[in-house]
Amino acid sequence: MIFDREATMENLSARVRGCQLCPLSKTRTLSVPGEGPIDAEVMLIGEAPGVNEDKQGRPFVGAAGNFLSELLAAAGLSREDVFICNVLKCRPPSNRDPLPLEIEACSDYLDEQIDIIDPLVIVTLGRYSMAKFFPRQTISRIHGSVKEIAGRAYVPMYHPAAALHRGNLREVMLDDFRKLPFILEHAREAARRQQPSPLPAAAAAPPPETPPVVDGPQPEATAPEAPATGPQPGPIPAPSQSTTQFRLFE
Ligand code: URA
Repeated sequence: MIFDREATMENLSARVRGCQLCPLSKTRTLSVPGEGPIDAEVMLIGEAPGVNEDKQGRPFVGAAGNFLSELLAAAGLSREDVFICNVLKCRPPSNRDPLPLEIEACSDYLDEQIDIIDPLVIVTLGRYSMAKFFPRQTISRIHGSVKEIAGRAYVPMYHPAAALHRGNLREVMLDDFRKLPFILEHAREAARRQQPSPLPAAAAAPPPETPPVVDGPQPEATAPEAPATGPQPGPIPAPSQSTTQFRLFE
């Protein structure tokens, strides 16, 4: 059976729009499944929709969303390049913190989204998103650093709304997002190393024709060909200096 990612994501979004798994379904205006390219290399996971997201059914469209666009620009990315979603798909009343029961009810949706997108890099925005992957960590300790698990890079970041309340976090967040291009390049290199190496040129070329057997004097043997120049088959080099631009966390 062929896995149709678009159709699978559309089916999931439709289930989120009609979801009644927890009491937030009674107070929401619209649920917010998430949006972005199905083959995005980078996936951003926020906390929960706010008042504007609840009205529009789209993630990060308010003030925090404007700052998120600025942060992405600092990383050389735009919203169209990334998949954006949240831990909770519905707004908690008065933007209160998500409850464990709500996180649990929503968690299969997020897991399915990660499976469908299969991103190289997951950026968590804020404590609740970080806690899904790193429940015993604190954001102030690990923000802007990277953990690689099963070929995927996880990068915990502060929530953009935090910088709207604590002005000193603005520059910290911008600095963290500026590391993303290096993290992404490193993740791409790692993914390439998992792929089978391309066939060496000689192996890819058709076999030489067998020369016809002729009687009589044979031409003098020609000098052996000089070794080919250009890229030679062999192991793909170890990650470049991109790794020196960011820090791993334990
Ligand atoms: N904050 C979030 O965590 N998500 C949104 O979509 C908007 C604000």
